[in-house]
Amino acid sequence: MNWKDEYAKKLTTADEAIKDIHDGDWVVIGHAAAVPRVVPHAMAVHCNDYNNVKVFHMTTLGDNEVLHPECFGHFRHVSNFLSGNSRDVVFNNHGDFFPAYFKDVPPMIGREIPCDVAIFQATPPDENGYCSLGVSCDYAPAAIRAAKSVIVEINDRVPFTYGNSMIHVSQIDHAIECSYALPELGSAAPTDVELAIGRHCASLIEDGSTLQLGIGAIPNAVLLELVDKNDLGIHSEMFSDGVADLMKRGNINGSRKTLHKGKVVTTFIMGSQNLYDFCNHNEAIELYPVDYTNDPSVIAKNYRMVSINSCLEVDLMGQVAAESIGMKQYSGIGGQIDFVRGASMAQEGKSIIAMPSTAAKGTISKVKPFLTPGAAVSTTRNDVNYVVTEYGIAQLKGRTLKQRAAALIKIAHPNFRPALIEEFERRFLCSYKENE
Ligand code: COA
Repeated sequence: MNWKDEYAKKLTTADEAIKDIHDGDWVVIGHAAAVPRVVPHAMAVHCNDYNNVKVFHMTTLGDNEVLHPECFGHFRHVSNFLSGNSRDVVFNNHGDFFPAYFKDVPPMIGREIPCDVAIFQATPPDENGYCSLGVSCDYAPAAIRAAKSVIVEINDRVPFTYGNSMIHVSQIDHAIECSYALPELGSAAPTDVELAIGRHCASLIEDGSTLQLGIGAIPNAVLLELVDKNDLGIHSEMFSDGVADLMKRGNINGSRKTLHKGKVVTTFIMGSQNLYDFCNHNEAIELYPVDYTNDPSVIAKNYRMVSINSCLEVDLMGQVAAESIGMKQYSGIGGQIDFVRGASMAQEGKSIIAMPSTAAKGTISKVKPFLTPGAAVSTTRNDVNYVVTEYGIAQLKGRTLKQRAAALIKIAHPNFRPALIEEFERRFLCSYKENE
């Protein structure tokens, strides 16, 4: 059968396709801006027909209906990364969190993360019957390989991206044609604090560097400060609009990359409609599965690799908590430690943890004597290198506990320095002034 006939036979409705989901099954759903919409809507409408179905996905933008209260007990969210629409679901015991690196998700699918049904979205097929997975590759190919039933929303608004993010019509069991805009990630104008952090980070970035940019407001502020840099490259877990802007300006051209020269490499893309339009049929951008992009040994092949990630708090030893506020799980580790390690292993590589010095409108210091009880350590003190706040740069690698504490106090908010100095003197039995 040629692929066109095969495709025609697979066309169906969401209501029909979800009949492949059975009580107790595990369903794996597309990630980030590539979250499918039509099939989860049908699942939510018919939720009373299902019991104890586990739904795995990581961050999803927009209104993910399977997370709504009426679905509790019918669908249970299980994930290694929480975001705005899933945080309280898990906190209130309507879902579960498990710690795992993003890069380990593809090999876990079909094993620790069972996958009976995979639900993703993709572009309409090209002339050879290949659909692009659009703005999210990450764990999609692994789930599509593992699932007993593969349901794909064929959305003509999905940008066609390159790299290793194609599926063939023959891999799909049910295709549902639809047309809807992808959800966008809003971005506020950077604050003065974020811009100051961006300037400090930019001072560590040399021409010809390859960058990884993490999640949150800081990475975009860093990109705004890179307009005078040349021949930058990208090897990242994700990127947003700031990267597209620097590609258009020519600051990012990948010309000095030592892996995937000339290409922006990522596993997912999340931003505005302008960004999605920019990525459509853009041969300079390539998406690969996350077990490739986030593999430290792959990351380390990039000369002058610089990783820039954010965090929630850092203690005076340099332990970084990036995923939980005390006991409350806030997000997940994603690829933070993999990029920290990959960048450290790279020739002339650097890893940067960048954060504002305070949270909660200046009432909480993010440099702490001790991490909040229950906080998970995301980047260990052995891995951390540069920590940046709006007050400057603390370089921790190779430095003693006393030197680290002193360097971190220097970049803490002045309001909180006296308490940190008190702790320094109690801990090290010496004067802070003499060790500043
Ligand atoms: N104590 C208490 N609350 C804190 C806090 C602290 N130490 N630090 C931050 N917060 C609060 C903030 O005030 C904010 O609250 P609000 O939403 O009520 O305003 C909230 O927590 C989020 O903080 P913010 O700094 O705005 O987060 P962000 O969107 O910049 O994201 C991380 C920062 C650390 C959560 C995010 O980068 C992350 O999840 N990292 C881990 C994964 C990762 O690094 N992935 C990238 C690898 S590729």
